[in-house]
Amino acid sequence: MKPTIQLHEKHFEVFIEKRIIEKRIIELASQINQDYSGKRPIFLAILNGSFMFAAELMKSVTLTCEITFLRVTSYQAMESTGKVYQILGLLENIENRDVIILEDIVDTGLTMVEIKQQLLAQNPASLAIATLFQKPEAIKQPIDIQYVGFEIENKFVIGYGLDFDGLGRNLSDLYVLSE
Ligand code: IMP
Ligand code: MG
Repeated sequence: MKPTIQLHEKHFEVFIEKRIIEKRIIELASQINQDYSGKRPIFLAILNGSFMFAAELMKSVTLTCEITFLRVTSYQAMESTGKVYQILGLLENIENRDVIILEDIVDTGLTMVEIKQQLLAQNPASLAIATLFQKPEAIKQPIDIQYVGFEIENKFVIGYGLDFDGLGRNLSDLYVLSE
């Protein structure tokens, strides 16, 4: 039987094991190493969810590069206008830089589309997205993602940085909600 855990009264079971996740992250890093050969990219890791992915990826990135961390807050502005997304903590100047966004998961894509637009307004030389997980069935806003670790079903997952109401980020395997 698969090991299960319980958080906030819900049960989760292992979905993708740590060793498989880490093997895939090494593949993503080698792809990035090739694609950015001779360049000096700046990685922008989106907190909190991407901290584990970012740390693991950076161990296998051999480029001369920078990494910095930012947060995205979202709030409902008015009933009619939808959510407003605000980027916090980006102190670096990304004008003319090769930027690679690191995200834990792209679900509807709404967050990523917003982040991308706001960063493009700062005129980077290039902008790429690397996400550890993506749920293709959940996408609401089409978006080009250059590096995807795993395409997964449209189910709620936790672990490897992803949380359920604050908990579960420290789990080193990816878990899915048990049915
Ligand atoms: P979006 O729907 O693509 O805008 O996703 C926004 C954020 O929702 C992601 O960055 C995650 O923080 C969170 N999220 C989406 N799906 C999951 C999930 O299955 N587990 C935990 N967090 C999720
Ligand atoms: Mg996130």
